[in-house]
Amino acid sequence: MAVPAISVEQLTRVYSSRKGFLFNEVTRTEALRGVDLEVAPGELFGLLGPNGAGKTTLAKILSTLLLPTSGRAHVLGLDVVREANRIRPRIGLVLGGERGLYYRVSGRENLRYFADLYGIARSEREPRITEMLERVGLGDSGDRRVEEYSRGMKQKLHLARGLLHAPELLFLDEPTIGLDPKSARETRKFVRALLAEGVTIFLTTHYMFEAEELCQRIAVLSKGKIVATDTVPGLRRLVGGDRTFEIDGYGFEDSELARVRALPGVSRLVTEEFGPRLRITLRVQDPQLELDRVAQCLLGHPELEVRERRTALEDIYLDLVEEEPA
Ligand SMILES: Nc1ncnc2c1ncn2[C@@H]1O[C@H](COP(=O)(O)OP(=O)(O)OP(=O)(O)O)[C@@H](O)[C@H]1O
Ligand SMILES: [Mg+2]
Repeated sequence: MAVPAISVEQLTRVYSSRKGFLFNEVTRTEALRGVDLEVAPGELFGLLGPNGAGKTTLAKILSTLLLPTSGRAHVLGLDVVREANRIRPRIGLVLGGERGLYYRVSGRENLRYFADLYGIARSEREPRITEMLERVGLGDSGDRRVEEYSRGMKQKLHLARGLLHAPELLFLDEPTIGLDPKSARETRKFVRALLAEGVTIFLTTHYMFEAEELCQRIAVLSKGKIVATDTVPGLRRLVGGDRTFEIDGYGFEDSELARVRALPGVSRLVTEEFGPRLRITLRVQDPQLELDRVAQCLLGHPELEVRERRTALEDIYLDLVEEEPA
């Protein structure tokens, strides 16, 4: 079998920071608490998780920017701690945000600087830069100063920078954050094109539809731990069922909710308040269970609205990262 593009075993990372009077209080944050995962060559692997889950920490460790506290991680078969220098030329990293660019010079000059850092031959440098500017959609603005760039343009320049040296493996940390829908769509198209060229991609995102649209497999990270790794259909099975029922109404009693929860085939029940209205969301495993059966448990609520929809990745995600209500 081919060497995995990424393999991680029992990885942890603790941040210690000092605060308080005389900085004598040390706070410890366990950002990663025993992460295991494996990504195959040529795969587009998605890492999903809420704010603070540890996604950026993991991406930074795998791209050798940050050391792990314990555990092991290999990238392209190389150890991220002992063989970082051999990993770096073969990977690209695109972090979200606006840092890491030189504002006073043009996009093209930024790329020249990074091309030299990556050791790209002078003869190849200019055509490569022009190609990357075109590909990310900055063909017309490569010679403008970066301080004149919009946030989306800076994000595109980051992408061009991360790909200059034609890496085999690309880390994308929230690549579409802050992009308008058209630019985000172009970026996703570009990511798919890279995948078709054989680049392995490790992508973090908050956007469920983005993960669902792009990723072959998804890991859900919650509070430093992977709570699930699977394909989208696999995740759907894991949390119980392809079917989701939504019931909107007013003033449901606990006993009524208990009756709904007890119906055969109901794997999960969540309630949300929308002002005075209450929404019950059900994950349903049994293909036989009809919406009518659910409505029968809630007789006496004439204003009931019931509907069935397909379980979205967002539902699954919430099931995985949120605690079941009592
Ligand atoms: N340099 C640091 N010093 C101390 N704590 C940190 C540092 N960087 C991150 N953390 C903490 O580690 C945890 C994980 O942070 P991380 O940035 O990896 O999360 P994330 O999943 O990328 O979140 P987001 O979705 O908001 O980008 C958080 O609790 C964060 O506060
Ligand atoms: Mg992050």
